[in-house]
Amino acid sequence: MDNRSDKNLKYTIITWGCQMNEHDSEKISGILESLNYTPTSNREDADLIIFNTCLVRENAELKVYGNLGELKALKRKNPELIIGICGCMMQKKEIRDLVKQKYGFIDLMFGTHNLHKLPELIANNKQSSRMIIDVWEEGGEIIEGVPAKRKFGYKAFVNIMHGCNNFCTYCIVPYTRGRERSRTPEDIIKEIEELAQEECKEITLLGQNVNSYGKTLEDKTTFADLLRMINKIEGIERIRFMTSHPKDLSDELIYAMRDCSKVCEHLHLPFQAGSNNVLKVMNRKYTKEKYLELVSKLKNEIPNISLTTDIIVGFPGESEEDFEETLDVVKKVGFDSAFTFLYSVREGTPAAKMEDQVPDDVKHRRFKTLLDTLHPISHENNIKLQDTIQEILVEEVSKNNEDMLSGRTRTNKLVHFKGEKDMIGKLVNVKIDVAKTWTLEGHIIEND
Ligand code: SAH
Ligand code: SF4
Ligand code: F3S
Repeated sequence: MDNRSDKNLKYTIITWGCQMNEHDSEKISGILESLNYTPTSNREDADLIIFNTCLVRENAELKVYGNLGELKALKRKNPELIIGICGCMMQKKEIRDLVKQKYGFIDLMFGTHNLHKLPELIANNKQSSRMIIDVWEEGGEIIEGVPAKRKFGYKAFVNIMHGCNNFCTYCIVPYTRGRERSRTPEDIIKEIEELAQEECKEITLLGQNVNSYGKTLEDKTTFADLLRMINKIEGIERIRFMTSHPKDLSDELIYAMRDCSKVCEHLHLPFQAGSNNVLKVMNRKYTKEKYLELVSKLKNEIPNISLTTDIIVGFPGESEEDFEETLDVVKKVGFDSAFTFLYSVREGTPAAKMEDQVPDDVKHRRFKTLLDTLHPISHENNIKLQDTIQEILVEEVSKNNEDMLSGRTRTNKLVHFKGEKDMIGKLVNVKIDVAKTWTLEGHIIEND
């Protein structure tokens, strides 16, 4: 029997990366709480610290190494402390070897496919005091029934699929998350019905490419079918999803978005680059023209839709003319916001070996031009919302003003307004008074 078992054990998880990782951390929390651990936000207080890592760009990776160094002192102070590292970085053998060699004080290393094994790994570590490494190369069958301790009650992430089959040439994700696998509609619906009973109002369906949902299922349920099924679940008020690959955005899906009253008027549709040459070498499998055609279909069917995107600047071989094409897409679409990235070399991906890498100073210059083009467009879109009434799901007390609440419109815009704490988790109507580039301010005009 472990001699620490009657102590009040505390854990903390530090998460980098995308929503998929955030939700994995919620699952790790669920597992740890079922082992009687309680959360703490203070690393000094913790008996167990888990780093859930990301590998998508070099700076994500560097941040993890920076933080790992600091843990050594904590471990020296408290030799009983268990330190675990998991997530996408652990799926690469070279990184596991480096971590083993440079950070020998780590106790547990596990990957993206075997979170559910955590209780066993902790028990093994306690018994042997050796570093326990358990990483599965491939995902295989989806493990159901892992409890998740969700960060918020009123909104929740729900995985609908895992992995990615697209192999965009810059991207490491297919190597860290394995091949595409879809959960069955029955498992998904059951999870969402349970969330609805717990008064969850908004769900975000997660997958690297939700538009290709169902391809691995026997009955070939499509993502559009799934949306129509989820739309019928009582209690759920809003449905969101991420991420959509343009090549798999079907008319059927656009019609489902239009028809389902709970599906929010927002689509995150990464276009990455505007030049057809670059898109081809990226292996994105659509053209600029096809992307713009999708956007006009979306705007026709869902007139007030908000569009957001991901853009990479400085992909190998990107010329000044290619970059102009990216700016052209930005201007033609009028995005509400965009995640913008400097291309980052990821060892093991095809683009890392391409010869015509773009110099850093050129990348930075283009990056700045891109932001200067995007920002006024976002602001203009927000100004159009001034004096309109928006339905807001109240999320939290504003970070820098206790009298203010914040929440999101159906189009996923952040709004600040005055209100009482007990409104958190409720839908309210807010009249928009001020439009800034990234946020809106308003006042409640009528309660839910
Ligand atoms: N599956 C999602 C998200 C993948 S990662 C999708 O396909 O949209 C999120 C974003 O990171 C990508 O959309 C891309 O814009 C960016 N990204 C991925 N690899 C990158 C790299 N090597 N350098 C810079 N940005 C990258
Ligand atoms: Fe990466 Fe492309 Fe898959 Fe998205 S679709 S995860 S960018 S390989
Ligand atoms: Fe990062 Fe893995 Fe997500 S590499 S972006 S945490 S899938």
